[in-house]
Amino acid sequence: MTLKTLMLTTVATLGLAAAAQAQTVGFSQIGSESGWRAAETTLTKQQAQERGIDLKFSDAQQKQENQIAALRTFIAQGVDAILIAPVVATGWDSILEEAKEADIPVVLLDRQVDSDKELYLTAVGSDLVHEGEVAGKWLAEAVGDKSCRVVELQGTTGSSPAIDRKTGFEKGIAGHANIEIVRSQTADFTRSIGKEVMESFLQAENGGADICALYAHNDDMAVGAIQAIKEAGLKPGEDILVVSIDAVPDIFKAMADGEANATVELTPNMAGPAFDALAAYWKDGTVPPKFIQTDSALYTMSDDPAGQYQARKGLGY
Ligand code: AHR
Repeated sequence: MTLKTLMLTTVATLGLAAAAQAQTVGFSQIGSESGWRAAETTLTKQQAQERGIDLKFSDAQQKQENQIAALRTFIAQGVDAILIAPVVATGWDSILEEAKEADIPVVLLDRQVDSDKELYLTAVGSDLVHEGEVAGKWLAEAVGDKSCRVVELQGTTGSSPAIDRKTGFEKGIAGHANIEIVRSQTADFTRSIGKEVMESFLQAENGGADICALYAHNDDMAVGAIQAIKEAGLKPGEDILVVSIDAVPDIFKAMADGEANATVELTPNMAGPAFDALAAYWKDGTVPPKFIQTDSALYTMSDDPAGQYQARKGLGY
């Protein structure tokens, strides 16, 4: 064998070895209901590319049955791991058991499931109850002793953030008898339904005159509701206080314009910690903690919303 042939053979062998080491990960995303969700998708793809992971992406269009079908396909393909942002909290036992039997680790992103924790490797996300509590406490402090009728826009029915952010907010205002949630309805985490439901709340509440504050389970619904409040001739942020969750650029824009008051941040970079945990698991079987918690910082109008808007633009949003 000549030196040249030997070198070519070595390069080809190394190339094959490198290719053989590239991991394949299936990602079942809920859909694109919010700006936050779109950013999470962008960042997951970016993170996979940076780490040389072959990401198989599936958009479930908000349907649990599509997510189950995607997971079944990933299992049949023999992927090295599965990421899933589960649209609702229940109904995952069988498919998670199938993944476990196939020895494929599953990582939950941003939402929780009510299945046995042994059925997945880890979950990356925030403390969703805490997020709601932070929002509730902010409102309690903002209104003081003033009587306050609150309307609530809930996230997708049956999803863990809708359940937990409601519980958390109620915890945050507990002991403040002057604050009362007078209307509460789902708007499915979307801007358009947020606007529609807020219109019906305004109509039912004396054109909005009887509403003191809006609590929305995400910023997108708040942004839709802000539009409805303006169209009703009221000033969001003043006539009706607005507090929500996510910290997407558009809510900072609304804050900079004086039309929203507070938001609790949820990072869209769930994939970074998820891939770190998987890398350690693949390397030597290191088992991560069952829950990898991300931060939940509160931002208000006094936290340079214009600067926050600029800082977030381009970070996956
Ligand atoms: O699960 C996280 C929530 O889902 C985000 O707050 C919301 O914007 C998204 O659609």
